[in-house]
Amino acid sequence: MTILDGKKVSNEIKDEITAEVKKMKDNGEKVPHLAAVIVGNDGASLTYVGSKVRSCERVGFESTMVRLSNTTSEVELLDKIEDLNNNDDIDGFIIQLPLPPQINTQKVLMAVHPDKDVDGFHPMNFGKMALDMSTFIPATPFGILELLDRYGVETKGKHTVVIGRSHIVGRPMSILMGRKGFPGNSTVTLTHSHTKNITQITSQADIIISALGVPNFLKAEMVKDDVVIIDVGITRVPDESSAKGYVITGDVDFDNVSKKASYITPVPGGVGPMTIAMLLKNTLLARERHRAHSK
Ligand code: GUN
Repeated sequence: MTILDGKKVSNEIKDEITAEVKKMKDNGEKVPHLAAVIVGNDGASLTYVGSKVRSCERVGFESTMVRLSNTTSEVELLDKIEDLNNNDDIDGFIIQLPLPPQINTQKVLMAVHPDKDVDGFHPMNFGKMALDMSTFIPATPFGILELLDRYGVETKGKHTVVIGRSHIVGRPMSILMGRKGFPGNSTVTLTHSHTKNITQITSQADIIISALGVPNFLKAEMVKDDVVIIDVGITRVPDESSAKGYVITGDVDFDNVSKKASYITPVPGGVGPMTIAMLLKNTLLARERHRAHSK
């Protein structure tokens, strides 16, 4: 069994990006600038955004965190997005999800200029992804592809089962694994809350990508020998014995499933760090495109 070590690979990617940024600086060029907008005080969202901003510093990017109150109106957020769209110094930005209920998420994501949409959530970028056109691939799916690629995990002709159809992970992942090329060329089954007898499906899978958010959902009895497991779950489960009062728990019963798996991602230290590395990679790409357009 091989651990797909997202922490290690994400550090390698960050080192590669750092070297690119150094070249930009040495050539007297502007370095990439990422902005992150966060609305409200959700603990997990603040942690993720903090981590994104710190990673920018580590690779030499500029970063801006925009914090808005929980009572921000949709119009106020759309105005802020317009500012960021028009700010030539910002190469890319993200709106951290989820947003408070008074704000229509789809409307907000459609307001982000597609050239600055480093999350790849705008319908134009999502459509380009589905049509194999060059675009920003959402960071978590992009990170999973990169992990499979760097470990040389075969995906061609394999049966990939995706659990969960979220717009951020499950849906794009199901499209990407079926695309021509590597990683891809899989036969994909997308399962969700209305799927009947999920064990019958997961037990036929060569690769399982679980993005459900139910701690320890996937048990050893549900998978076959030598399965490849990608665990996207990051649920905070209350735990008095830990300093933070919670532990981050994946969708997969790691202790038992890992005994049957050929490859498996740990939680934490698997997909999570890859997401941040790929957001940085998308920001670098946004900077390169921005520079090419302004020549
Ligand atoms: N919330 C959970 N995952 C993500 C992500 O990848 N991007 C943004 N913007 N919000 C998220």
